Amino acid sequence: MTTVRLPENGRPPEEVLAQMDRMAADDPRWREGRTFSLVYHAGEAHNRFLHRAYEKFFSENGLNPTAFRSLKRFESEIVQISAALLGGDENTVGLLTAGGTESILLALKTYRDRFRHRLRLPGKPRVLVPASAHVAFEKAAEYFDLHLVRVPLAGDFRVDLGALRRRLLPGTALVVASAPCYPYGVIDDVAEIGELCKRRGIPLHVDACLGGFLLPFLHKLGEPIPPWDFRVPGVTSISADLHKYGYAAKGASVLLWRSMEYMRHQFFVSTDWCGGVFASAGILGTRPGGGYAAAWGALQVLGEKGYLELHGKALRAARRIMDGIRAIPGLEVLGAPPATIFAYRSTDPRVNIFAVGDRLAARGWHVDRQQRPSCLHAMITAAHEAVAESFLTDLRAAVEEVRARPELAKEGEAAMYGLIAHVPLRGMIRKNVLRMMEALYGHGGEQPDLAGEASAGEPVTRWAVRMLPFLEKLSKLFRKG
Ligand SMILES: Cc1ncc(COP(=O)(O)O)c(C=O)c1O
Repeated sequence: MTTVRLPENGRPPEEVLAQMDRMAADDPRWREGRTFSLVYHAGEAHNRFLHRAYEKFFSENGLNPTAFRSLKRFESEIVQISAALLGGDENTVGLLTAGGTESILLALKTYRDRFRHRLRLPGKPRVLVPASAHVAFEKAAEYFDLHLVRVPLAGDFRVDLGALRRRLLPGTALVVASAPCYPYGVIDDVAEIGELCKRRGIPLHVDACLGGFLLPFLHKLGEPIPPWDFRVPGVTSISADLHKYGYAAKGASVLLWRSMEYMRHQFFVSTDWCGGVFASAGILGTRPGGGYAAAWGALQVLGEKGYLELHGKALRAARRIMDGIRAIPGLEVLGAPPATIFAYRSTDPRVNIFAVGDRLAARGWHVDRQQRPSCLHAMITAAHEAVAESFLTDLRAAVEEVRARPELAKEGEAAMYGLIAHVPLRGMIRKNVLRMMEALYGHGGEQPDLAGEASAGEPVTRWAVRMLPFLEKLSKLFRKG
């Protein structure tokens, strides 16, 4: 293992920058529309603008909202713009966070504290989330000691309303819906859920980390988007990410509240710290001014027209790719996703969808694999319009290759994902994934080979390959059983 130490003498900046480029040589090619998650690219000109806006406030810190007035102004204007987009009114309040996960963590902490403040029930407060809700809710429940109840989905991949109703027991602090959910791209029936929650006096958080800066524009483009935002009376808060379909720089999301009645449970105040009286609205201490500036700047330079153009492109690309997938024998799109996010799977037992993923990866496409059911995932942005046809050509070729060579399902990442998806002992999987995390972050374990730079390969992939023998043993055990 290479031990990397602080260089004794500083190195020339150009040399360091050149090394960074070499380190990135094997990274996914997002500029060319080769990624279907992680990066939202609105073109080089917009990207350069974000860099410049970020750079202007690169050093400023949003920790103390009274210090840099500029940052506070960016934040409150972003909140006002978002509230107006999402059906809010003069009572709507909120803040800028570093991302979807921070918005969700903060929302759950706030609802927990509000629940405890109002009711002194024993046990953990219950939070009902659709089975498809983002994993950040699970993380929040683990961090804040909440009882997370995953509600099953109906056949259309939206949360099953009957199942939700049956779980609305005393002790329920919050219900969550997604607009849309990450895995299948469908929007839960927020109007019905809102009605149900309002009748029971239970708050409803809508996770629109993906849809917040997308759905209002798709609606304006004439798409039939069902009501899902503050216009639904039962909705009490919304998370919406600027750094996704808002085409801002990384590190920007908003958490909006119907009124201060909810948000007041979010604030942290310490009066006795020797560093002085301290108050904070979010989870972070230091907050990057660059992220605020780039997010405000993105809204200003794009404006309504810019978002309509970008989302129109993404929608056309998504429709083209979904239609193309439906036309490939043996593949289907799951459900009827209304926006630009969807999942697709194989209906042909000879075509292993994870092997298709591997063949796409070999052709330079970075696609995410999902379980329940085994499928591939796609988040389409404006950057995909130019590559929709070449992606479909490669997808057709990948499907044919896998159909002709079924043994591909037993190789590479397909073998690992296939086994993980089917091993029923989730505790075993968890234990091994924890081991992987220790290996990635620990000493003497598997560290990225910095000396090798671009040739180092992806540590998770290498771990996955090492985990294969274990998973094979496990699956043999189950076959015997
Ligand atoms: C629906 C949804 N919610 C929350 C998140 C978490 O957002 P972040 O990765 O910015 O923390 C994501 C991320 O993809 C998401 O798709």
